[in-house]
Amino acid sequence: MIQVNDKYFESYLSEEKIHARINELAENINSNYQDKNLVFIVILNGAFMFASDLIKKVSVPCEVTFVKLSSYQGMQSTGRVDEIIGLTTNISGKDVIIVEDIVDTGITIGKVRKLLLSSKPKSTAICTLLFKPEAFSGEQNPEIIGFSIPNDFVVGYGLDYDEKGRNLPCIYKIKAS
Ligand code: IMP
Ligand code: MG
Repeated sequence: MIQVNDKYFESYLSEEKIHARINELAENINSNYQDKNLVFIVILNGAFMFASDLIKKVSVPCEVTFVKLSSYQGMQSTGRVDEIIGLTTNISGKDVIIVEDIVDTGITIGKVRKLLLSSKPKSTAICTLLFKPEAFSGEQNPEIIGFSIPNDFVVGYGLDYDEKGRNLPCIYKIKAS
């Protein structure tokens, strides 16, 4: 058991499990994106660790770029994305894979996909390490999913609880108190 801020968490997905699954995801990408014009758009901060491990295993030619999302100030971030910051790569006519740490309600990723469409990519796919199907209310499921998980709060491997816990090398879930 570990403590992050004021809450306790227990082990959930080990490094071995995460890396084994990432190898499978990379193999799928390697076979589906041959002869494509692949660009990874990594959503910071949460996806940094996942993206780093995943993209190392990708062997097809690709570009890698990083963006942040801005939300309306003072509101809950979920569903309030209004801008993508830092997209300097031209994605017009390219095959984009958006890399996220977790898709919960799906509001964030739905908005990101919509905003990117104005830059006329040839295709977009969402690649998320974690997916909470019970919480999801979006129109289109993520195309590439690491693990579908129950609706429990998780930290580690890039994911934070109040900005702490991103450094943990594996994933922990909140302990029922
Ligand atoms: P959505 O718009 O509800 O899909 O929210 C996605 C965002 O909420 C993610 O990018 C995370 O920043 C955050 N989030 C959702 N669930 C969790 C969790 O269990 N742990 C940490 N962050 C989470
Ligand atoms: Mg995030």
